[in-house]
Amino acid sequence: MTSELINKSSAFNILVVDDEPANIDILLGVLSPHYKVKVAPSGALALKIAQQYVPDLILLDIMMPGLSGFDVIKALKSNPALNNIPVIFVTALGQGEDEEKGFELGAVDYITKPISPPLVLARVKTHITLAHQMKMTELEVKKRTAELQKSQQSAISMLAAAGHYNDTDTGHHIWRMAAYSLKLAMAFGWSVEQALLLAQAAPMHDTGKIGIPDSILKAPRRLDEKEMSIMRTHAVIGHQILSQSDTPLFRLASEISHCHHEKWNGTGYPQGLKETDIPESARIVAIADVFDALTMNRPYKKAWSDEDAFNFIESESGKHFDPSLVACFLSIKAQILDTKAYWNALEKKKEMPCIDEFLHTSAPPSNRENA
Ligand SMILES: [Fe+2]
Ligand SMILES: [Fe+2]
Repeated sequence: MTSELINKSSAFNILVVDDEPANIDILLGVLSPHYKVKVAPSGALALKIAQQYVPDLILLDIMMPGLSGFDVIKALKSNPALNNIPVIFVTALGQGEDEEKGFELGAVDYITKPISPPLVLARVKTHITLAHQMKMTELEVKKRTAELQKSQQSAISMLAAAGHYNDTDTGHHIWRMAAYSLKLAMAFGWSVEQALLLAQAAPMHDTGKIGIPDSILKAPRRLDEKEMSIMRTHAVIGHQILSQSDTPLFRLASEISHCHHEKWNGTGYPQGLKETDIPESARIVAIADVFDALTMNRPYKKAWSDEDAFNFIESESGKHFDPSLVACFLSIKAQILDTKAYWNALEKKKEMPCIDEFLHTSAPPSNRENA
């Protein structure tokens, strides 16, 4: 990488800041055969040029009329767009205190006057190489992180779709109920970070339906007891599939898949858990899932009105659902209906936003930045 860098060194920009024309001439003579050099005869101009061109390295004189070199480096370090530029101070010999202060303020090195051309060249090359390598590493980490996130989001979409592949639910059901889950979790006091994780995990609640025969999933009638008991295994199957990953997201998805049919009064399945023994994540998702199932059109039933669906959720408070979560859900009716309208409009247009967009459109405006 270093030899490659030497060949391409003219691609790097250096800003020389000095009020003495003689020093500028020397530095220009040394550096311009190898680098693109810009010159600033004052601190104020240096900051202007730095903002405009963002150089790869700055050679900074300390003693200057107006803004000193210390003032300039302080301004650079307080600007997030410029604070990574390496700064080398150029000091007169015997100014030990200045050198110490320069390092404290974030300089990477110093060069003493009178300037020695080979030394300047060597130091500049070292720091340009270091800064370049650091930038490359940061870019690589960013790229890898983005790739990982994309893979995770693809996994969520695929597992969610797998669960509903043979189901009569539309693809939008899983995203809409995830959006309701997010709203409810936020209103119930979850942090944005946790609520977003829940919204990513919720679409996988029925992943286990992949293990249920078509004849039961698509039966156009009420299931008999035997069929019903097979249908109920989807919670365990989903749990088994999703618990194969040990990341926080899939741990949560596995918990939700396992417990989204449990009921507050203990009459749910598969474990018959009661009240707060049911994980809060699953208690939230249960309300969101049922509300969406009631309010959407299915081939065999018409959608309930919003009012009827809210009334039903209320009537199941303390039976199917956690009473405090029901109260919270009813207190954010307006948000739930906004979310419903948003998703219904997308469904009508047959548009399916990617999960990334989904998370942003689902977060309340005031929290979008944190998301
Ligand atoms: Fe389910
Ligand atoms: Fe569902």
